[in-house]
Amino acid sequence: MKKQNSISRLVGNAGLQHAGYVAVAKTRAKVLKAFSYVIPIRRPMLFVGESACHELCDMLINEGSTNVFIVTDAVLNKLGIPAKVTEYLEAKNISYHVYDGVTPDPTFTVIEEGLSQSIAAKCDAIIAIGGGSVIDAAKMMAMSQGNRCEPKQLIGILKARKPAIPLYCVPTTAGTGSEATLGAVVSDDKTHQKALSIDPRMVPLAAAIDPVIMKGMPAHITADTGIDVLTHALEAWMSVNASVETDYYAASAVKSVMHYLPIVYKDGGDLKAREAMGVAAHYGGIAFNKAGLGYVHAIAHQLGAYYRIPHGRANAIVLPYVLDVNRQASQKRLAALARKTGMVKTEQAAESDSIDSAITDHLIAQVRELITDLNIDPTIDGLQTSDFDNIAKAAAKEVSDTYAVPLYLTASEIKDILIKIKQASDHCMNDKTESTKVA
Ligand SMILES: [Fe+2]
Repeated sequence: MKKQNSISRLVGNAGLQHAGYVAVAKTRAKVLKAFSYVIPIRRPMLFVGESACHELCDMLINEGSTNVFIVTDAVLNKLGIPAKVTEYLEAKNISYHVYDGVTPDPTFTVIEEGLSQSIAAKCDAIIAIGGGSVIDAAKMMAMSQGNRCEPKQLIGILKARKPAIPLYCVPTTAGTGSEATLGAVVSDDKTHQKALSIDPRMVPLAAAIDPVIMKGMPAHITADTGIDVLTHALEAWMSVNASVETDYYAASAVKSVMHYLPIVYKDGGDLKAREAMGVAAHYGGIAFNKAGLGYVHAIAHQLGAYYRIPHGRANAIVLPYVLDVNRQASQKRLAALARKTGMVKTEQAAESDSIDSAITDHLIAQVRELITDLNIDPTIDGLQTSDFDNIAKAAAKEVSDTYAVPLYLTASEIKDILIKIKQASDHCMNDKTESTKVA
C-alpha cells in the first residue's frame, strides 16, 4: 500500500489508472494474437474479373448446391444488380429465392426474417450480393441455418457447434472486406447497440470481385468505402500483432488504394481500377482479420452510432488525427511502409535513410491530401462536446477489448482528437454558411 501511495504521488491517480488500462489491454492483445495463430482461419476461394460472378456460381454448382438463397438489399435489387448472378443460375437450371430486406446496420429482426424465408424455401446455399451490411446479415443467416439456432445465440466468440450452410459473397462495394473476415456485426432492434459474432466457420467459401458489379457505385460512396480500405490496411500495419503475412496484405492494399482510388473516384467506369480496389478491400480484410484495427475504428464506430454518419466517412474524418498521434510510436513502421509502397520516391528514400521522421510526415501528408482530393465532407451534424466523455470511454474500451495498438491513449488524449474533429467540422460548417449567404 505504501509503495502504491508513493507511485500515486509520482504519476497521479489518472496516470495509475491509465497504467492499469494499458496492462489489461496488452494482455488481451497477446491473447488475441495467440487465438489468431492457434485457430486456423479459412481463406475464401477468390474469383477476380468480369466473369468472377459466373465462376463463383460454377463453384457453388460443382459443390452440389441446387437451391440458392440470394441475400441483398432493396436498392441493389431495384437496380437489377443481382441479375448477373440470377440469370446465370437460371441458365444452369438452379433454383433461387431472393431476399432483399437487408437494411444498413442489420438488426436481429432483419436476419431472422431472411433466415425463416431461407428455411421455408429449403435453400441449401446462400449468395450474398451487397456491401458489408448484406454480407454480415448473410453470414448470420448461414450460421444460424447450419446450426439450427437463433441468430442471438451466435453472439460472442466461437458460439457455433456446426459449420454454416455454404456461403458465397459478391461484394458490391470495395470497402469492408467482410467477405474475407470471420466476424459479423448485428444491431439490437431497440437500443441500436452493436453485437459481434466471431467464428472462423463464418468465413465464406468463395468471393467474387467483379468490377462490372461495382461500376455503378456513386463517387462519394467509392470515396468513403475506399478510405475504409486504407484505414483497415494502415491500422493492421501499425498493430503490434502484425505479422509477415498481414504486412503483405496490408502493404498491397495501401499501394492499390493510393494509386487506384483517385482514378476510380474520377471515373467510376474504369474497370481496372474498380477491380484493383475490390482486391485491395479483400486484402485489407485479410490483414485486419489477424492483426486487428485501432483507434480510428474505435472512434469512428462511436461517431457512426451517435451521429449516423457512414462508416467510411467517419474513418476518413478520424484517420489523419490518429496518424498524427501515432506518429512517434509508429514512425519506423510507417516509414518502412512508405518505402515499400512507393509513397516516397526512390531517390528520397535513399537520401533520407536515416530520417524516418521526414518520410513519416510525407506519408501522413499524402493520406490527408487523398482525403481532401476525394472531397470527403468533414462536418458532423449534431457533434457536441457534452458527448465526448462517453465517446472517449467507449472508444477506449473497444481498443482495450479488441485491438493491439502501438500506443494506448488516455481518455483526455482521445478527447483532444474529438476537439480537433469538432473544430474542423465547425470551420467547414461556417464556410458552407458563408458560401450560401454569398449565393
Ligand atoms: Fe472499417
